Amino acid sequence: MLEIKKIISEETYPLHLQVLKTCNDYQYKYNADFEKETMHFGAFLSQENVGIVSLMENKHTYFKGKQIQLRGMAVLTKNQGQNVGSRLIESSIIESKKRKTTIIWCNVRDYSVTFYEKQGFKIKGGKFFIENVCNHYVMYLNLDEK
Ligand SMILES: CC(C)(COP(=O)(O)OP(=O)(O)OC[C@H]1O[C@@H](n2cnc3c(N)ncnc32)[C@H](O)[C@@H]1OP(=O)(O)O)[C@@H](O)C(=O)NCCC(=O)NCCS
Repeated sequence: MLEIKKIISEETYPLHLQVLKTCNDYQYKYNADFEKETMHFGAFLSQENVGIVSLMENKHTYFKGKQIQLRGMAVLTKNQGQNVGSRLIESSIIESKKRKTTIIWCNVRDYSVTFYEKQGFKIKGGKFFIENVCNHYVMYLNLDEK
């Protein structure tokens, strides 16, 4: 059975490296990792960490009100397509609502846009390129409309 648990920043690093890393100088450690408002979730199957996501209180100029940025969403390749990502988003929404957040937003890799759309996220603005990674879109979920 899949279990979603709070984890510490360093526990997210192995999946960052296995799933998200695209180049040798890929940046996966953020200063905000250790802010007291930052939270990291791990998805566990039989004690194996198969998915991660980080929630950071960070404002984007596109939006107004209280905001949370989702970062570093990753599911091990062998466990993709088993609803692990959806469960991580569900936990992120519950936590964000507890904090009276209006907007959850994230920078989404172009090939993962459909996943976020299926979770109710919408695109804001145009695509932008992150060097050594790929094209991205800002996507958001307005919790006041849910
Ligand atoms: C994107 C990712 C987090 C999704 O997690 P997941 O556990 O595979 O997703 P789920 O199984 O919960 O999928 C939920 C739905 O989204 C769809 N979906 C998932 N990933 C998709 C993708 N890349 N493209 C299109 N649809 C996708 C699933 O088919 C499923 O659809 P359904 O509800 O109609 O059956 C995961 O595939 C991943 O880690 N990918 C590589 C890293 C990455 O791109 N991270 C996001 C960076 S912005």
